Amino acid sequence: MSEEQIRNLETQFEERIARDEKIEPKDWMPEKYRKTHIRQISQHAHSEVVGMLPEGNWITRAPSLRRKVALLAKVQDEAGHGLYLYSACETLGISRDELYEQLHSGKAKYSSIFNYPTVTWADMGAIGWLVDGAAIINQVPLCNTSFGPYARAMVRVCKEESFHQRQGYEIMIKLMNGTQEQKDMAQDALNRWWWPSLMMLGPTDAESVHTEQSMKWKLKRKSNDDLRQQFIDQTVPQAELIGLVIPDPDLKWNEERGSYDFGEINWDEFWQVVKGHGPMNKERMKARVGAWEGGEWVRDAAMAYSEKQQERKEKQSASLKKEVS
Ligand SMILES: [Fe+2]
Ligand SMILES: [Fe+2]
Repeated sequence: MSEEQIRNLETQFEERIARDEKIEPKDWMPEKYRKTHIRQISQHAHSEVVGMLPEGNWITRAPSLRRKVALLAKVQDEAGHGLYLYSACETLGISRDELYEQLHSGKAKYSSIFNYPTVTWADMGAIGWLVDGAAIINQVPLCNTSFGPYARAMVRVCKEESFHQRQGYEIMIKLMNGTQEQKDMAQDALNRWWWPSLMMLGPTDAESVHTEQSMKWKLKRKSNDDLRQQFIDQTVPQAELIGLVIPDPDLKWNEERGSYDFGEINWDEFWQVVKGHGPMNKERMKARVGAWEGGEWVRDAAMAYSEKQQERKEKQSASLKKEVS
C-alpha cells in the first residue's frame, strides 16, 4: 500500500469514529489503534481476574449465608468480566496464551488497587462500595467507546458493577448500624481503602501520557482528574449519610466550584505499588501463576480430547468417501 493510500484509510477511519460508528475486528485500523486497544483491554481483563483474589479470600468466612451468596456471585461476575474482555482482546489478533504470559511475566499491568490486603470483613464492604464505585465511573463512558467488542462487553459489565457497588455499600450500612466494634471496623476499612481508591482513577492529567490520543478514539471521555472529582463528589455524601468520616483533613465543600476540595494524594505510594512494591504484589502473582500451572493438566486433557475427536471425524469421512466411490 502506498503512503497516500494509508493516509486516506486513516482519514476515513478517524471520520468513522467522529460519526460514532463502531470499529469492528475485521475493519481496517491503524496499528497504533490495535496496539493501544490490546494494551488497555488486556490490562482491564487482568484487573478483573486478579481482582477476584482479595475478595475470594473472604468467601469461606462471610458472616452469613446471604452474605456468602452475594460475595460468591460478585466474585464470579468478575471472572465473567475477565472472560468477555479477554475474548474482546483476542479479536485484535493476540492469543489468550500470550495475554496470560504477559501477566505472569510482569510485562502487563493490572489495577494497583488489588495489591492491598483484605484484613477484615469490612474490607468487603469498602471494596464493593469504593473500588467497584470507582470502576463504574471509569467504565460507564467506555460503553460508547469506538471499538465494538469492547463497548458491547462494557454494557453488561457496568450493569453488574452497579450491583457490586450496592452490595458493598449495604455491608457498610449494616456495620454502621451495629456495635461500636463493627462501626470501628467499617471506619478502619474506609481509612485504608479511601486513598488507594482515589489513586485507582489514574495519575494526574499532567502525568497521564495516553490521554490525548485516547480521547480521540473515545477510549477516554473525561480526564483522570475529572473522574476523580466526580467520584469524590458522589462518595462523600454516601459516607456522611451513614456516619463514616472520610480520612482527609483537607476535604471541604467548595461553594464556588460546587465540588469538594481534597488533600494531597501520595503519588509516591501509587508508583511504588505500580512498580511491584505494594504489600500484596508478590502474593497476587504467585496465586495467578500457581493457578495457571495447576491447570496445565486440564488444558492438556482438553487438547488431547479435541485431537482425538478430530481424528475420529477424519477417519469417518475417509471411510464414507470409500463407500461412496
Ligand atoms: Fe468487574
Ligand atoms: Fe465489580
